[in-house]
Amino acid sequence: MMKRLVLVLSLGGATSAHADAVADVWKAKCTVCHGGDGKARTKMGQKESIGDMSRPDWQRARTDADLREVIANGDPSNRKMKPFKDKLTPAQIDALVGYIRTMKAPAAP
Ligand code: HEC
Repeated sequence: MMKRLVLVLSLGGATSAHADAVADVWKAKCTVCHGGDGKARTKMGQKESIGDMSRPDWQRARTDADLREVIANGDPSNRKMKPFKDKLTPAQIDALVGYIRTMKAPAAP
């Protein structure tokens, strides 16, 4: 009963509200290291050589499943990237994957 109510509410949300929600999650939980634009021009980004998510080659080299895996379970090669599966819902993680895809810079002409 409760579950159904939540589902109806989340499906009822307008697309723009949805976009705002994922942007807020990014800002609250990811920007400190990855930067607002995903370029990782942050202290942690420099220290840990975090990749620039706006680069087309960065985007190409990773599948959605790869991104989802790291967000959910952390990066086995860098423990600074913590698992978020206990802090975010699968839907939020999927939304973040989509959000990261929007960071791709236009290909150079
Ligand atoms: C405490 C700093 C920190 C926070 C907060 C953080 N990350 Fe990371 N993240 C890292 C580091 C360090 C790496 C490993 C370096 C790399 O892969 O570029 C990483 C790697 C990643 C990768 C894999 C990159 C690759 O090369 O495949 C993804 C995707 C990612 N983070 C997404 C997120 C998302 C989404 C959030 C917020 C929910 C987040 N990160 C929060 C530090 C952080």
